[in-house]
Amino acid sequence: MIEISVCIGSSCHIKGSYKVIKSLQELIARYSMDDQVDLKASFCLGHCADGVVIKVGDRYINSVNPQNVESFFRTFILESE
Ligand code: FES
Repeated sequence: MIEISVCIGSSCHIKGSYKVIKSLQELIARYSMDDQVDLKASFCLGHCADGVVIKVGDRYINSVNPQNVESFFRTFILESE
């Protein structure tokens, strides 16, 4: 199971974390990965200047946004399997 936590702290929220979560839900459905991915929202992950911040397992990935979330998903979720 891959754990993904998307920061919904105020700074990341302003940068589009809600849209990022929506897109991730769609991508997870598109690739039928519901049973492999645990998608959660998280409070501030401590890298506010570089939001949206997403934690995948023990890694922090910065600067995800609604425009690049699909490439984030490909790189860190699909290709990490
Ligand atoms: S608000 Fe997202 S890292 Fe602080």
